Amino acid sequence: RSKISELYARAKEMDGQKVVVGGWIRTMRDMKTFGFIELNDGSGFKNLQVVYESAAIANYAEITKQNVGAALVIRGTLVCTPEGRQSVEVRAREIEVEGTSTPEYPLQKKRHSVEFLRTIAHLRPRTNLFSAAFRIRSVAAFAIHTFFQERGFVYVHTPIITGSDAEGAGEMFRVTTLSAGDPPRKEDGSVDFGKDFFGRPTNLTVSGQLGAESFALAFGNVYTFGPTFRAENSNTPRHAAEFWMIEPEIAFADLKDDMDLAEDMIRFIIKTVLEKCPDEIQFLNAFVDKELLERLTGVLHSEFARISYTRAVEILLGSGEKFEYPVSWGCDLQTEHERYLTEKHFKRPVFVTDYPKEIKAFYMRLNDDGNTVAAADLLVPGIGEIVGGSQREERLDVLEERMRELGLRPEDYWWYLDLRRYGGTRHAGFGLGFERIIMYLTGITNIRDVLPYPRTAGSAEF
Ligand code: 4AD
Ligand code: MG
Repeated sequence: RSKISELYARAKEMDGQKVVVGGWIRTMRDMKTFGFIELNDGSGFKNLQVVYESAAIANYAEITKQNVGAALVIRGTLVCTPEGRQSVEVRAREIEVEGTSTPEYPLQKKRHSVEFLRTIAHLRPRTNLFSAAFRIRSVAAFAIHTFFQERGFVYVHTPIITGSDAEGAGEMFRVTTLSAGDPPRKEDGSVDFGKDFFGRPTNLTVSGQLGAESFALAFGNVYTFGPTFRAENSNTPRHAAEFWMIEPEIAFADLKDDMDLAEDMIRFIIKTVLEKCPDEIQFLNAFVDKELLERLTGVLHSEFARISYTRAVEILLGSGEKFEYPVSWGCDLQTEHERYLTEKHFKRPVFVTDYPKEIKAFYMRLNDDGNTVAAADLLVPGIGEIVGGSQREERLDVLEERMRELGLRPEDYWWYLDLRRYGGTRHAGFGLGFERIIMYLTGITNIRDVLPYPRTAGSAEF
């Protein structure tokens, strides 16, 4: 069986050959003794025009009755039609209906809103927009693995179920068990969730970082790429309860090495997607974001800006902008601040470094000033933060002190502290939000439209 994209790519050499294609009907036109089907198989945007004649196929009457959305397998001859609207078509000899559809099929030939399409997350991959988004998602994932593998990084699978809170922020989903059988009920009628399976409270991981640090202190350079979960109840276009994160961790390295790595990685991902998905990028540039291509190619040819948090606050205070959240030294940067810096001031990606320790996690290395930590967030136009990283605190006493200050119990992190007891070294890492980079690569502005089945507060239907 051939893919439609392949038929277009190899049209000349395949002219006159017998081909078999499987796909779903996008449109149908019946002209009494012959008809046209536009078939799509998800290999690209181009539909395959199938011509069928009553004289040539046995089940002509059955075919003319098919509805948009039906699944067909076509056997026929490929014909180059350079003078036609499409450069190839298939003249059918045999059409097999593998799955019928009905006139109620929700994806009719018109433009549907993304809001409507979210209500049919199981069917939306059959639209051009989601076809583009999820092909790019696939290519970007592979590009990320390629980037790290080519540089000798070891891929580590850190656990999904864990007893530690890697960010110390408490925004976690608790893991419990149901007993066998129907949900067992307590006397008051409520569901009995049983005992803690692991003998201690556990949760879904918010980040693989702590596990990755331990592997970095064995392998030197490692990365994770897996699902992470946050029970933050923020209903924004950039937050999901389940998202994927890429977390490299590098030993014998500091914050500058960390930023260099993030910058190289982002450029590599963009370069690969531009090379491998030119049709998708062109489509998105035409229908979703007119500046997408220019912005992405711009990133390949300019350095990212790097400024301290203190300088960022100065820029924001001097901007004359009316922000919803007022700015002062010590405040956490909100999306509106991040976007001002990257979109209006620098007009390119910018690293903001050395944040006040109060607004960052316990594991970040305390700077000599005693007030700030060696953190670096990467902000990009259109989104804001896509990478959060830091040099890690390698000094046992300073780390324990920071934990206590933040109300965490060092005993709970005994194994993590061991990494400072036995051969602790300078090390650094970052987390790239996978959906955030897909938004950046596609110009799609809502995280719900780059996740196959988005989980956000109040929505996990599919
Ligand atoms: O800044 P965060 O919270 O950093 C960490 O988790 C560190 N442990 C990473 C590390 O140093 N190894 O998250 C990292 C990135 C953010 O910059 C953002 O892109 C993404 O993860 N992210 C989310 N993406 C979607 N939905 C959410 N709720 C997200 N929270 C964070
Ligand atoms: Mg962050």
